[in-house]
Amino acid sequence: MHMEYELNKIIKIPVGLGERSYHIITGQGILGNAIEYLVPFVSGRKCLLLTDSNVGPIYAKKVSEMLREAGAEAFIFTFPAGEEHKTLETVGGICSYAVKCGLDRSSLIVALGGGVCGDIAGFAAAIYMRGINFIQIPTTLLAAVDSSVGGKTGADLPEGKNLIGAFWQPKLVLMDPEVLTTLPFKEIRCGLAEVVKYGVIMDAPLFAKLEQNTDKLNGVDLHFYTEIIAECCKLKAQVVAADEREGGLRAILNYGHTFGHAVELASNFTIAHGEGVSIGMSMAAELAVQAGFLDRAVAVRQRKLLEKLALPCKLAPGGDPEKIYAGMLKDKKKVGSRLNLVMPLEIGKVEVKSGFEPAAIINAVRCCCE
Ligand SMILES: NC(=O)c1ccc[n+]([C@@H]2O[C@H](COP(=O)([O-])OP(=O)(O)OC[C@H]3O[C@@H](n4cnc5c(N)ncnc54)[C@H](O)[C@@H]3O)[C@@H](O)[C@H]2O)c1
Ligand SMILES: [Zn+2]
Repeated sequence: MHMEYELNKIIKIPVGLGERSYHIITGQGILGNAIEYLVPFVSGRKCLLLTDSNVGPIYAKKVSEMLREAGAEAFIFTFPAGEEHKTLETVGGICSYAVKCGLDRSSLIVALGGGVCGDIAGFAAAIYMRGINFIQIPTTLLAAVDSSVGGKTGADLPEGKNLIGAFWQPKLVLMDPEVLTTLPFKEIRCGLAEVVKYGVIMDAPLFAKLEQNTDKLNGVDLHFYTEIIAECCKLKAQVVAADEREGGLRAILNYGHTFGHAVELASNFTIAHGEGVSIGMSMAAELAVQAGFLDRAVAVRQRKLLEKLALPCKLAPGGDPEKIYAGMLKDKKKVGSRLNLVMPLEIGKVEVKSGFEPAAIINAVRCCCE
């Protein structure tokens, strides 16, 4: 699995989901070079290219030209960038525009952007005329290693994030690591929290490789990123193939997220998702140490890696552990009143545990406050 990657090589990663199987294709320069992969899906069809107001001006022209060269009739819909536009209203706007452009059941939607774009494009594709094909072209690290793989699509409600949605798998994912050259480093760093997560939950060699190459990660070495993105996609594909609808194994992907979501919420979302996940993984590891599941030295190893990537591991002064705990109880993934938490046992191995005393959780959070 941890092979050497040839420079500029195209890597194809199968996602095995029976008749819903598809490929993730990644490699530097793929965005100018993907016609052969697109033709089978888009030739002779109408394609609605969906993008946001930051990504569109940089990449939409190139991608729409590529779609046309692959034989599609391409239309572009640009929505304002930002999580606050991941709404039913945006989805409605997309569907209305699709009608205006004459998209029918054989047409498709192409998502060009980060996780927000991918989630709403996929959701629009899932419901437009009861479901049409879609393709993901992720442009953030988070979308590349996480949101574009697995088929979860959706939108937010005023009452909370991701409260509506559908499982809807893309037909193809095209990821060009060169898009990271225009992505603000803060966004890359947030994606790195998810990359570290994969190492901790299921791949000790990946974790070690990250530890040994923090300079390449911080310096955005695209060759190294290509390799890391491919490895993370393989890991997520493996989990999703085993558990498409989150009945069991897929829950391990929530490592650090129950704590992390509560941290984001308590900060009124001034703490970004990746930062919340980083703090959340630190809290989960602290709880695991205190509960006797994990050696202190392993928790320290995780913290050192996160810190080298300039990710936060502690709540800023003023953080309220009781408030974080209350936020955790609101988590959508809670079963009844029980908090199931993903606990690291060693690097590369986690287990879902339950039955924690509230005081134990609050204490672990308190130990991660500055
Ligand atoms: N479906 C899933 O399984 C899943 C998993 C994780 C997260 N998500 C969702 O993903 C979303 C977060 O995704 P995100 O972090 O990619 O956020 P995002 O889509 O908002 O992108 C972050 C910012 O970067 C800009 N941007 C994107 N690509 C760029 C590029 N190449 N160059 C310059 N600017 C660029 C965007 O316009 C935006 O301002 C959340 O809504 C979350 O719920 C979904
Ligand atoms: Zn996440």
